[in-house]
Amino acid sequence: MTLLQAATTVRHNAYAPYSRFKVGAAIRAASGAIYTGVNVENVAYPEGTCAEAGAIAAMVAAGETVIAEVCVIADSPEPVPPCGGCRQKIAEFAGPDVMVTLCTTDGKSRSMSVAALLPGRFDASHMARS
Ligand code: THU
Repeated sequence: MTLLQAATTVRHNAYAPYSRFKVGAAIRAASGAIYTGVNVENVAYPEGTCAEAGAIAAMVAAGETVIAEVCVIADSPEPVPPCGGCRQKIAEFAGPDVMVTLCTTDGKSRSMSVAALLPGRFDASHMARS
């Protein structure tokens, strides 16, 4: 199964009754295994979680911490880039050259590296004096 197929399939399970914007995410980890996630909204709006966060949680729960590739899909006019928080979450487990492919349900896509998504990322080196 391709990452796009996995993200497309899982997207149908997104719980998005408030925004009506369903998002699916799929991660290929270092082992080659695919982990998926969807956005899960909440009536207390800030408690909702993004699809990327769900896929990362599934990956870590399975014992993996290295992302090789990411695919995100939503029904939007143009490929939707991950939110700021998800960029930082992806960067925790992905090197700067890892590719993130953003897709629409009608077939548009755009690929960006993690470095391009999150220039100037905060990382452990910034805490060197702590
Ligand atoms: N959302 C994601 O799941 N991933 C993104 O990259 C962008 C936004 C979700 C959060 C919320 O449930 C809905 O899309 C609208 O913002």
